[in-house]
Amino acid sequence: MRGGLLHRTIVASGLLAVIVGATFAVLLSMIAQLREAGARAQHSDEVLVVANRLERLVGDLETGERGFLITAEEDLLQPWQAARAEFPEQATTLERMVADNPAQQARAREIAQAGTSYIQDYSVPLVAAARRDLNSARTVTVIAEGKRRIDAIRTDFDRFVAAEQDLAGARQLRSEAADHRAVVVAAGGLAGSILVIVVFAGYLSKAIVRPVRRAATMARRLAGGELGARTPERGVGEIGVLERSFNTMARSLEETREELTASRARIVAAGDQARRRIEHDLHDGTQQQLVALVLDTRSAEAAVPPELPELKAQLARVADGLGGALDDLRELSRGIHPAILSEGGLGAALKALARRSVVPVLLEVDIQQRLPEPVEVAAYYVVSEALTNAAKHARASVARLDARAGDGALKISVSDDGIGGADARRGSGLIGLTDRVEALSGTISVSSPAGKGTALRVELPLDGR
Ligand SMILES: Nc1ncnc2c1ncn2[C@@H]1O[C@H](COP(=O)(O)OP(=O)(O)OP(=O)(O)O)[C@@H](O)[C@H]1O
Ligand SMILES: [Mg+2]
Repeated sequence: MRGGLLHRTIVASGLLAVIVGATFAVLLSMIAQLREAGARAQHSDEVLVVANRLERLVGDLETGERGFLITAEEDLLQPWQAARAEFPEQATTLERMVADNPAQQARAREIAQAGTSYIQDYSVPLVAAARRDLNSARTVTVIAEGKRRIDAIRTDFDRFVAAEQDLAGARQLRSEAADHRAVVVAAGGLAGSILVIVVFAGYLSKAIVRPVRRAATMARRLAGGELGARTPERGVGEIGVLERSFNTMARSLEETREELTASRARIVAAGDQARRRIEHDLHDGTQQQLVALVLDTRSAEAAVPPELPELKAQLARVADGLGGALDDLRELSRGIHPAILSEGGLGAALKALARRSVVPVLLEVDIQQRLPEPVEVAAYYVVSEALTNAAKHARASVARLDARAGDGALKISVSDDGIGGADARRGSGLIGLTDRVEALSGTISVSSPAGKGTALRVELPLDGR
């Protein structure tokens, strides 16, 4: 994908590789230059050593022949002989060593020629003449000639050495400059590489780490049930795709939950409606018929003549039985749907529940107005189930009922001082309450530590969501 993370990472890594590679290439070339400059400086030293040696040979020639002229001792000619033999080879070596520098090479050649000429044209004939006749060889002219030649050779040497030292100095300067350049390039390359790495790390953090963290935070919130959580869609490439997918997933989860809540509410409402209809049918139909039958039977009982006591007693039993059946039916229809809720509202219905409860109830009800019908019905069943449970399971001596409406919600709390240990998995009452309450976007909690009683808390929003 162009502009994707892989593409950007490859480009950034390539840039880094180019900068680091270029820095190292320049450094390598600097090192090569430094080595060359070092080698040149060493070469100059070697040239100077050979030049010194050559100059010493010339000195040996002069001292040898002079000593011989004075003493005529052949022994003194030994260094002269050695210098004579060695000079040509050393002179060639010197010339070869400076072959890359024409000016120095010319000076070296001059030294070689002057030296060779001194040996062949002056020193050797002088020694030969001295062997023949010492006094005739020791003339002032001859000695002055020797001195002139030697001085000329020394001047050549001085020129050669001075030039070589200049060269060595210039090379030293060049080497130091190369040294300095290498340090600057190395420092610059290092700083550039660090900068690129820092920029790259910053970019990675901005483009990948931070968005992934945001997405992880959002995923955590989603997992905690906060389906309204969203992450900003600012990421590039695949990260952007990830952020958009997360938001789409959250939206679709939220919609699914809303649909589920709505369908739960519809199911609960449909059940309530059916119960209301049955209660209504029982009240208006069967109950009225039973009332009429009780009244008819009582009238028939009253009309029976005294001489038929058996029949009178039988009719009385039938009327009592019908009355009992009527009471049972009333109780039954109250369980199906409490008529008092529709007629008197939640406050009255809760008071009636408390009155009928087997466990005595401390009542605190603060509900001033009629609430939405689904809320009233749900609240009624919550209290009814909680009080029935307290009677059935808790072995409680007293129960407490608090119900108050305000701040957009109805809050109900039913607690008992019984044995605790309520567990919704063991029956269907508490689970049914959860369904009812959550269908109205309410919350329900049961706290029931063993031996410490049970407290059921419910909060229902009143805005009809
Ligand atoms: N107030 C309470 N004190 C002690 N235990 C309780 C209390 N309320 C419930 N329980 C325990 O929790 C279980 C689950 O209660 P729930 O109301 O869901 O079912 P049930 O009362 O057993 O049956 P149903 O309500 O369906 O008729 C009960 O069986 C009971 O063991
Ligand atoms: Mg129950």
